[in-house]
Amino acid sequence: MNPAALESIQALHRAVYVEGELFGVDRPHAVDPLQAPDGPARPNAIAVAGGAFGDEGKGRVVDELCMRSLRAGRAPLVYRWNGGANAGHTVIVNGQRVALHQLPSGALHREAVIVLGKGMVIHPGDLLAEIDRVRAVTGGPMATLIIDENAVLALDTHRALEAALRDWQTGGSGATGRGIAPAYADVVYRHPLRVRDLIAADWRDRLRRHYALYAALVKGLGRDLATVRVPSLRAESILVGPESEFIERHGPAATALDVYAQDSRPVLENVWAADGPTTPIIFEGAQAIGLDTRWGVYPDVTASDPTFDGIAHSTEGMFRSEEIAVRAGAIKATYTSSVGSRRLPTAMDEALAQRIRDDAHEYGSTTRRPRDIVYIDLPCLRFFARISGMTHLILTHLDISYPDAPIRVCTHYTDRRGHVCGYRPDQGFLSAVTPHYLDLPAWDGAALRGAQELAALPREALQYVAFLTRAIGCPPLMATTGPERTALLSWLPG
Ligand code: IMP
Repeated sequence: MNPAALESIQALHRAVYVEGELFGVDRPHAVDPLQAPDGPARPNAIAVAGGAFGDEGKGRVVDELCMRSLRAGRAPLVYRWNGGANAGHTVIVNGQRVALHQLPSGALHREAVIVLGKGMVIHPGDLLAEIDRVRAVTGGPMATLIIDENAVLALDTHRALEAALRDWQTGGSGATGRGIAPAYADVVYRHPLRVRDLIAADWRDRLRRHYALYAALVKGLGRDLATVRVPSLRAESILVGPESEFIERHGPAATALDVYAQDSRPVLENVWAADGPTTPIIFEGAQAIGLDTRWGVYPDVTASDPTFDGIAHSTEGMFRSEEIAVRAGAIKATYTSSVGSRRLPTAMDEALAQRIRDDAHEYGSTTRRPRDIVYIDLPCLRFFARISGMTHLILTHLDISYPDAPIRVCTHYTDRRGHVCGYRPDQGFLSAVTPHYLDLPAWDGAALRGAQELAALPREALQYVAFLTRAIGCPPLMATTGPERTALLSWLPG
């Protein structure tokens, strides 16, 4: 960040908080960016990515986008472009909780088409368990599912290697234990198993060769593959087991996935171009830009491409990100949460952090581990927005604000020589900088909770949205105002 960028943030602060400028955030956008996008982008195409370090609540927003499409009489296509069973998003259907890990959020809408893209790594057993669960709670069929035949497999062998690595590195790996990094590494090492390998006639032979390789790798780390315990959706945890047991465990998936597996390109091509374009396409990302290996705080990063660029990779270059009308990054409106060993510069006063943690349920959804809560960090969020080509912001948890605690926002850092600087994706650098803050007027979040209309937002919330979104450089698209499905408001017209 250069001093001119800091001056523009200071000027923005004056414009909003002294001169009363709201930059139009008190009313819906005059032009619907989904219907009339800038440049060559396809209308009715939106991508949603995490704009910070994960757990921003994107799934809920994708669910709302699906419902909007259905209300307008058009069934959406929801395409998940990255990650695997490391994602987690809980929805309540017919009074029952259902956790989605590998299925995108459109799964619960039976009219939708959902695609697990080539950029994903898929655990077949957990996926079948998830499909069964969705069917059980919806009481019937779910969305039409397509699995790209080229998606990579992330099996119990990968989970075992990750567990062995964790022991080897004495707990240092910090992954979710779902074998994500080893599965993506298979691609780089040129020995991946893909969905099409599991539905091939000789799938047993292919799995046998894979098991032998992983047995050798795990043995090299001092473990016996068969006796490594790995997480499982159906049984919490299981032993990888000997080769024959491991292979036969995949029998049901080899049969079941055959129904869903195909080359997804013709489907996407058809929907993208041939129909008008009227079919809404929603690209759903997993994890977040701040978990990208290149842009996040290494080593707390994931192996897939969670940026909008990941869509081009996953779709074999079919859609460059700038062809997608709206590329929305979801962030928590008034704070940022983080899990793992990364130490962000904007550490929050612990009493306030605990208050937020309790009010916003900031505990890991599977581990119950308390998440770190930090102040909003503009250098970091601006970096993620710029590097990913984000066009809009989705602000979640707008109800987490207390009249007795101003909202503290970091405008810039200084280095040890006192020079103004911005974010760099490097823990050593981030540990050495000094953050500088502005305190902004808060509002009564409890009074705002559940708001569905912009008119229900207090002036302080509008000022804050105007300041934050202009400072990051992306206008707001939606905000969530509480945990209920309906607690959501939008800047989209209509
Ligand atoms: P992996 O994705 O299991 O390889 O984990 C790598 C890193 O990404 C770890 O620091 C995880 O905690 C983090 N991570 C992966 N998925 C999520 C998520 O959905 N939310 C937050 N952190 C995540």
